Amino acid sequence: VLVRIAVIGATGTIGKAIVEALAERHEVIGLSRGSDPRVDIDDPATIEAFYGAFPGLDAVICAAGNGVFAPLADLRPEDIEMSLRSKLLGQVNLIRLGLGAVAEGGSIIVTSGVLSTHPMPGGSALSLVNGGLEAFVRAAALEAPRGLRINAVSPGWVKETMERLGMDSSPGIPARELAKIYVGVLEGTQTGTVVPS
Ligand SMILES: NC(=O)c1ccc[n+]([C@@H]2O[C@H](COP(=O)([O-])OP(=O)(O)OC[C@H]3O[C@@H](n4cnc5c(N)ncnc54)[C@H](OP(=O)(O)O)[C@@H]3O)[C@@H](O)[C@H]2O)c1
Repeated sequence: VLVRIAVIGATGTIGKAIVEALAERHEVIGLSRGSDPRVDIDDPATIEAFYGAFPGLDAVICAAGNGVFAPLADLRPEDIEMSLRSKLLGQVNLIRLGLGAVAEGGSIIVTSGVLSTHPMPGGSALSLVNGGLEAFVRAAALEAPRGLRINAVSPGWVKETMERLGMDSSPGIPARELAKIYVGVLEGTQTGTVVPS
Protein backbone atom coordinates (compact mmCIF):
# COMPACT_ATOMS: atom_id res chain seq x y z
CA VAL A 1 0.00 0.00 0.00
CA LEU A 2 1.44 3.29 -1.03
CA VAL A 3 -0.27 6.11 0.77
CA ARG A 4 0.60 9.76 1.21
CA ILE A 5 1.24 10.45 4.87
CA ALA A 6 2.24 13.60 6.75
CA VAL A 7 4.24 13.11 9.94
CA ILE A 8 4.25 16.11 12.27
CA GLY A 9 7.21 16.09 14.61
CA ALA A 10 9.22 14.25 11.96
CA THR A 11 12.61 15.30 13.35
CA GLY A 12 11.93 14.08 16.90
CA THR A 13 12.98 10.89 18.65
CA ILE A 14 9.70 9.15 17.88
CA GLY A 15 8.82 11.01 14.67
CA LYS A 16 12.14 10.22 12.99
CA ALA A 17 11.65 6.50 13.64
CA ILE A 18 8.07 6.68 12.29
CA VAL A 19 9.30 8.36 9.09
CA GLU A 20 11.97 5.67 8.63
CA ALA A 21 9.47 2.86 9.20
CA LEU A 22 6.92 4.32 6.78
CA ALA A 23 9.31 5.36 4.05
CA GLU A 24 9.79 1.70 3.04
CA ARG A 25 6.22 1.43 1.75
CA HIS A 26 4.67 4.88 1.69
CA GLU A 27 5.19 8.45 0.55
CA VAL A 28 6.03 10.47 3.65
CA ILE A 29 6.00 14.22 4.18
CA GLY A 30 7.93 15.20 7.31
CA LEU A 31 6.92 18.42 9.06
CA SER A 32 7.60 20.39 12.22
CA ARG A 33 8.13 23.99 13.34
CA GLY A 34 11.47 23.87 11.55
CA SER A 35 10.19 22.59 8.19
CA ASP A 36 9.06 24.41 5.07
CA PRO A 37 6.12 24.79 5.23
CA ARG A 38 6.32 25.32 8.97
CA VAL A 39 3.69 23.56 11.05
CA ASP A 40 3.27 24.62 14.67
CA ILE A 41 0.42 22.64 16.20
CA ASP A 42 0.12 25.30 18.93
CA ASP A 43 -1.03 27.68 16.19
CA PRO A 44 -4.26 26.59 14.43
CA ALA A 45 -3.55 28.93 11.48
CA THR A 46 -0.48 26.87 10.55
CA ILE A 47 -2.54 23.67 10.79
CA GLU A 48 -5.11 25.09 8.37
CA ALA A 49 -2.33 26.22 6.03
CA PHE A 50 -0.80 22.73 6.20
CA TYR A 51 -4.04 20.99 5.22
CA GLY A 52 -4.47 23.56 2.44
CA ALA A 53 -0.96 22.88 1.14
CA PHE A 54 -1.41 19.07 1.12
CA PRO A 55 -4.97 18.33 -0.01
CA GLY A 56 -6.22 14.75 0.05
CA LEU A 57 -3.65 13.26 2.41
CA ASP A 58 -4.33 9.61 3.24
CA ALA A 59 -3.01 9.94 6.78
CA VAL A 60 -1.65 12.35 9.36
CA ILE A 61 0.50 11.15 12.23
CA CYS A 62 1.43 13.54 15.02
CA ALA A 63 4.40 12.86 17.31
CA ALA A 64 4.70 16.46 18.48
CA GLY A 65 3.41 18.54 21.33
CA ASN A 66 4.98 20.03 24.39
CA GLY A 67 4.06 19.77 28.04
CA VAL A 68 5.70 20.71 31.32
CA PHE A 69 7.16 18.01 33.55
CA ALA A 70 7.60 19.52 37.03
CA PRO A 71 6.58 18.89 40.64
CA LEU A 72 2.99 19.89 41.34
CA ALA A 73 4.11 22.47 43.90
CA ASP A 74 6.19 24.22 41.22
CA LEU A 75 3.63 24.06 38.39
CA ARG A 76 2.52 27.57 37.50
CA PRO A 77 -0.82 28.26 35.81
CA GLU A 78 1.07 29.20 32.65
CA ASP A 79 2.83 25.81 32.66
CA ILE A 80 -0.52 24.05 32.71
CA GLU A 81 -1.93 26.40 30.05
CA MET A 82 1.08 25.82 27.79
CA SER A 83 0.75 22.04 28.16
CA LEU A 84 -2.96 22.20 27.33
CA ARG A 85 -2.46 24.55 24.39
CA SER A 86 0.38 22.57 22.85
CA LYS A 87 0.04 18.84 23.29
CA LEU A 88 -3.71 18.69 23.95
CA LEU A 89 -5.35 21.47 21.92
CA GLY A 90 -2.67 21.24 19.22
CA GLN A 91 -3.56 17.62 18.52
CA VAL A 92 -7.30 18.23 19.03
CA ASN A 93 -7.11 20.93 16.35
CA LEU A 94 -5.13 18.64 14.07
CA ILE A 95 -7.97 16.10 14.33
CA ARG A 96 -10.77 18.69 14.12
CA LEU A 97 -9.38 20.42 11.04
CA GLY A 98 -8.36 17.08 9.53
CA LEU A 99 -11.97 15.88 9.42
CA GLY A 100 -12.61 18.06 6.39
CA ALA A 101 -9.22 17.61 4.78
CA VAL A 102 -7.97 14.02 5.04
CA ALA A 103 -9.03 11.71 2.19
CA GLU A 104 -12.01 9.37 2.50
CA GLY A 105 -11.15 6.31 4.59
CA GLY A 106 -8.01 8.05 5.83
CA SER A 107 -6.35 7.87 9.22
CA ILE A 108 -5.32 10.39 11.88
CA ILE A 109 -3.02 9.19 14.66
CA VAL A 110 -2.04 11.37 17.61
CA THR A 111 0.35 10.73 20.49
CA SER A 112 -0.58 10.69 24.17
CA GLY A 113 1.63 8.86 26.67
CA VAL A 114 1.91 6.42 29.54
CA LEU A 115 1.34 9.14 32.16
CA SER A 116 -2.41 9.08 31.40
CA THR A 117 -2.71 5.70 33.09
CA HIS A 118 0.54 5.32 35.05
CA PRO A 119 1.13 8.58 36.91
CA MET A 120 4.42 9.57 38.46
CA PRO A 121 5.55 12.55 40.55
CA GLY A 122 6.21 15.53 38.30
CA GLY A 123 3.86 14.27 35.60
CA SER A 124 0.52 15.79 36.62
CA ALA A 125 0.26 18.30 33.77
CA LEU A 126 1.10 15.60 31.22
CA SER A 127 -1.31 13.14 32.86
CA LEU A 128 -4.02 15.78 32.41
CA VAL A 129 -3.11 16.35 28.78
CA ASN A 130 -2.71 12.68 27.85
CA GLY A 131 -5.91 11.61 29.61
CA GLY A 132 -7.89 14.40 27.96
CA LEU A 133 -6.48 13.57 24.55
CA GLU A 134 -7.30 9.87 24.88
CA ALA A 135 -10.88 10.65 25.97
CA PHE A 136 -11.23 13.04 23.02
CA VAL A 137 -9.96 10.44 20.53
CA ARG A 138 -12.46 7.82 21.74
CA ALA A 139 -15.33 10.30 21.40
CA ALA A 140 -14.26 12.05 18.20
CA ALA A 141 -13.94 8.73 16.34
CA LEU A 142 -17.70 8.20 16.80
CA GLU A 143 -18.37 11.33 14.77
CA ALA A 144 -15.66 11.02 12.16
CA PRO A 145 -17.15 11.40 8.67
CA ARG A 146 -16.27 9.59 5.41
CA GLY A 147 -14.83 6.50 7.09
CA LEU A 148 -11.99 8.45 8.68
CA ARG A 149 -10.23 6.59 11.50
CA ILE A 150 -8.94 8.40 14.58
CA ASN A 151 -6.60 6.71 17.05
CA ALA A 152 -3.95 7.52 19.63
CA VAL A 153 -0.69 5.76 20.37
CA SER A 154 0.26 6.01 24.04
CA PRO A 155 4.00 5.41 24.24
CA GLY A 156 5.79 4.25 27.33
CA TRP A 157 9.20 5.77 28.04
CA VAL A 158 11.36 5.59 24.94
CA LYS A 159 14.81 4.04 25.41
CA GLU A 160 16.64 6.82 23.56
CA THR A 161 14.88 9.47 25.65
CA MET A 162 15.77 7.69 28.90
CA GLU A 163 19.41 7.47 27.76
CA ARG A 164 19.43 11.19 26.96
CA LEU A 165 18.01 11.99 30.42
CA GLY A 166 20.57 9.75 32.13
CA MET A 167 17.88 7.33 33.35
CA ASP A 168 18.13 3.54 33.48
CA SER A 169 16.96 2.82 29.95
CA SER A 170 16.50 -0.95 30.34
CA PRO A 171 12.67 -0.76 30.61
CA GLY A 172 12.44 1.70 27.69
CA ILE A 173 11.02 0.84 24.28
CA PRO A 174 13.41 1.52 21.38
CA ALA A 175 11.99 4.20 19.05
CA ARG A 176 12.25 1.72 16.16
CA GLU A 177 9.94 -0.73 17.96
CA LEU A 178 7.50 2.03 18.91
CA ALA A 179 7.37 3.17 15.29
CA LYS A 180 6.06 -0.28 14.31
CA ILE A 181 3.03 0.32 16.55
CA TYR A 182 2.18 3.50 14.61
CA VAL A 183 2.55 1.61 11.33
CA GLY A 184 0.28 -1.15 12.66
CA VAL A 185 -2.42 1.37 13.59
CA LEU A 186 -2.03 3.12 10.23
CA GLU A 187 -2.36 -0.09 8.23
CA GLY A 188 -5.05 -1.61 10.49
CA THR A 189 -8.78 -0.99 10.61
CA GLN A 190 -9.43 0.14 14.18
CA THR A 191 -10.85 3.50 15.17
CA GLY A 192 -11.36 5.26 18.50
CA THR A 193 -8.63 3.25 20.15
CA VAL A 194 -5.70 4.14 22.37
CA VAL A 195 -2.82 1.78 21.74
CA PRO A 196 -0.23 1.43 24.48
CA SER A 197 3.34 0.47 23.69
N1 LIG B 1 10.09 10.19 24.26
C1 LIG B 1 9.35 9.58 25.18
O1 LIG B 1 9.85 8.83 26.06
C2 LIG B 1 7.86 9.77 25.17
C3 LIG B 1 7.06 8.93 25.98
C4 LIG B 1 5.68 9.12 25.98
C5 LIG B 1 5.11 10.10 25.18
N2 LIG B 1 5.91 10.91 24.40
C6 LIG B 1 5.28 11.94 23.58
O2 LIG B 1 5.61 11.74 22.23
C7 LIG B 1 5.68 13.00 21.56
C8 LIG B 1 7.00 13.10 20.84
O3 LIG B 1 8.04 12.89 21.77
P1 LIG B 1 9.59 12.88 21.35
O4 LIG B 1 10.34 12.39 22.52
O5 LIG B 1 9.77 12.22 20.02
O6 LIG B 1 9.85 14.45 21.22
P2 LIG B 1 11.12 15.21 20.61
O7 LIG B 1 12.25 14.28 20.38
O8 LIG B 1 11.30 16.41 21.46
O9 LIG B 1 10.60 15.69 19.16
C9 LIG B 1 9.52 16.52 19.02
C10 LIG B 1 9.25 16.72 17.53
O10 LIG B 1 8.08 17.53 17.38
C11 LIG B 1 8.43 18.79 16.78
N3 LIG B 1 7.64 19.78 17.50
C12 LIG B 1 7.78 20.20 18.78
N4 LIG B 1 6.82 21.10 19.07
C13 LIG B 1 6.07 21.24 17.97
C14 LIG B 1 4.95 22.03 17.64
N5 LIG B 1 4.39 22.87 18.53
N6 LIG B 1 4.42 21.95 16.40
C15 LIG B 1 4.95 21.10 15.49
N7 LIG B 1 6.01 20.33 15.73
C16 LIG B 1 6.58 20.41 16.96
C17 LIG B 1 9.94 18.90 16.93
O11 LIG B 1 10.54 19.66 15.89
P3 LIG B 1 10.63 21.27 15.94
O12 LIG B 1 11.26 21.62 17.24
O13 LIG B 1 11.41 21.60 14.72
O14 LIG B 1 9.20 21.76 15.85
C18 LIG B 1 10.35 17.45 16.79
O15 LIG B 1 10.31 17.07 15.42
C19 LIG B 1 5.46 14.08 22.64
O16 LIG B 1 4.09 14.42 22.65
C20 LIG B 1 5.79 13.33 23.93
O17 LIG B 1 5.10 13.85 25.05
C21 LIG B 1 7.28 10.75 24.39
